[in-house]
Amino acid sequence: TDAVPFYGEHQAGIVTPAQDRLHFVAFDVITDKKAELDELMQEWTAAAARMTQGREAGTFGAVGGLPEAPPDDTGEALGLPASGLTLTVGFGASLFDDRFGLAARRPAAMAPLPKFPGDALLPEISGGDICVQACAHDPQVAVHAVRNLARIGFGRVSVRWSQLGFGRTSSTSRAQATPRNLMGFKDGTNNLKLEDEALLAEQLWVAPGDGQDWMTGGSYLVTRKIRMMVETWDRAPLDEQQQIFGRDKGEGAPLGRKAEFDPVDFNARDAAGQPFIKADAHVRLAHPSSNGNAHLLRRGYNYVDGSDGLGRLDAGLFFMAYQRDPHRQFVPIQLSLARHDALNEYIKHVSSGLFACPGGVRDAGDYWGRTLL
Ligand code: HEM
Repeated sequence: TDAVPFYGEHQAGIVTPAQDRLHFVAFDVITDKKAELDELMQEWTAAAARMTQGREAGTFGAVGGLPEAPPDDTGEALGLPASGLTLTVGFGASLFDDRFGLAARRPAAMAPLPKFPGDALLPEISGGDICVQACAHDPQVAVHAVRNLARIGFGRVSVRWSQLGFGRTSSTSRAQATPRNLMGFKDGTNNLKLEDEALLAEQLWVAPGDGQDWMTGGSYLVTRKIRMMVETWDRAPLDEQQQIFGRDKGEGAPLGRKAEFDPVDFNARDAAGQPFIKADAHVRLAHPSSNGNAHLLRRGYNYVDGSDGLGRLDAGLFFMAYQRDPHRQFVPIQLSLARHDALNEYIKHVSSGLFACPGGVRDAGDYWGRTLL
């Protein structure tokens, strides 16, 4: 009933209306045999096709196999519906090194992201050879999926890092209400959406001739774990908070306008002749008109990883954005934000990832990475 189709031209989990929960995982490949990697991708794809339809990871299931053997499903999702589960795979730049002879297949778009001013990246929670984004309406279903992929991958991959998220901070369809991030603002108002077909073709999906043919129909994912200094933010006046984003906190309307979806007019001025939306406001700096018409499909989640031992919440935004070319989209936007965004006083980027997510798995004979491997 609430199962999202697994097979298709594009991978599910990109324009799929954002589910409530996230379990994101980055793996390192620990085998040096390409055949083993190829085999793993086939096993993973079969398990993903089953789990996204609400079935167990393996054909015997949690309790149907031999009592002498470990079950081929871990069991914690027994009785739970598919819960909108999507599993989206991506390949990191480190996979295209000498180990598997893939250097010539590395897309130019996978060139490393530059170091941005203010970056405080921790290598142990950045990068990775392969990522899987698991999104679902039920956290137990998302965790079950990642856990079973890690179990299947034993001896061939190891988990490098993973991140749980909740309260999607983006809407990716006009049918969804805009949720709020942990700063209390609506997030996702001016996002690329499922219904924007022409823009998706222009800005989201890799097209034939873009570079590496194996990426046709795919998209590039940038992840950034962005810690928020929520205690400092909570002491900032409402007026300052609104000016930082350039939108009001209650309705989400651009400053100077009334309703959330009113178009933004960066030239509009108040009675004193000052622009309603300041030069260092987040939405002005991030807007396509300030970045050579670059759009992103943002699909981030809030996170709270408990507290940090100093009495502060370890909280923020696990930012994820899909795009056709990160060096023409994410990079210029983030360079401008890192230099000028008024929000920087309250945030810190602590992890980063760039992944090439290929086109969709077509049918049961196809598998994740077939076009690459
Ligand atoms: C817009 C929050 C980081 C790109 C917005 C909006 C909010 C927001 C509240 C306005 C509503 C909307 O249109 O979605 C945040 C927070 C961040 C963050 C709290 C960090 C913790 C980033 C980063 C990027 C980015 C790192 C990309 C490099 C955008 C874009 C828009 C936007 C493209 C839409 C601008 C427009 O066209 O009006 N963000 N954001 N944001 N943000 Fe962020």
